[in-house]
Amino acid sequence: MHDVTKVYQLEGIEVRALCGVSMDIHEGEMVSIMGPSGSGKSTLMHIVGLLDRPSAGVVSIEGEVVGDLSPNQLAALRNEHIGFVFQSFNLLARTGAQANVELPLVYGGVSGAERSRRAREALERVELGDRLNHTPGQLSGGQQQRVAIARALVTSPSIVLADEPTGNLDSRSGVEVMGILQDLNAQGITVVIVTHDANVARHSQRIVELRDGVIVRDETVADRLDAHDEMSQLGMNTAADVEAVLGTAGDAS
Ligand SMILES: Nc1ncnc2c1ncn2[C@@H]1O[C@H](COP(=O)(O)OP(=O)(O)O)[C@@H](O)[C@H]1O
Ligand SMILES: [Mg+2]
Repeated sequence: MHDVTKVYQLEGIEVRALCGVSMDIHEGEMVSIMGPSGSGKSTLMHIVGLLDRPSAGVVSIEGEVVGDLSPNQLAALRNEHIGFVFQSFNLLARTGAQANVELPLVYGGVSGAERSRRAREALERVELGDRLNHTPGQLSGGQQQRVAIARALVTSPSIVLADEPTGNLDSRSGVEVMGILQDLNAQGITVVIVTHDANVARHSQRIVELRDGVIVRDETVADRLDAHDEMSQLGMNTAADVEAVLGTAGDAS
């Protein structure tokens, strides 16, 4: 984005949420957008995610300037490239995990059998292949956020945008969610996390800090946290760990 400004009109009063923000997010990067409440993080994410348009400035994604696109073209670009994860999970309450994950494909006109196959595959990627029919109420907060991540992945996006993905989670579930986001990034997906939490941000390669709609810091993270190391320090085992141990035991015998 180049020189992006966003002004909201609220009952005749102008609120400047972003003032001349320029930044590149590179393919395959994991970036955190940090800053206190009201600094413009969500506004930035909505603009990067093509959910909202800037008041001034240029946004381009994969070389395409998005300013000239119609709402339908924007929606198509968004559906093709971007997956969203929100603080409050935004899952349908009376609907099972698999059906929640299938939703973005319903609007995409994918056949029922294909939807089901892709939803199950996405749930396996977040280690919930054994919870296909659980409704959100039957899942922990961390599991609900993993369902939401699977829903973001089901369209095979090249970019995942997460707005305070650990905001409603206890610290263990938060680390688990960060582990999944780090795994996705290691698999080549560009990950952008919005957070006010410095510890969450330290899981990225780069931190961009906003204050009052202006970038005040843009730095590489020197002491990056590895969520999988943190999980083993906390004595947490992931399904992948268990498989690795069983695999080794099998080889030895
Ligand atoms: N739809 C809106 N209408 C008017 N003002 C808004 C709207 N959305 C956000 N703002 C204002 O823009 C500023 C930045 O908000 P936001 O991007 O949500 O910040 P953050 O996510 O960092 O808390 C705040 O002052 C907020 O009150
Ligand atoms: Mg916000």
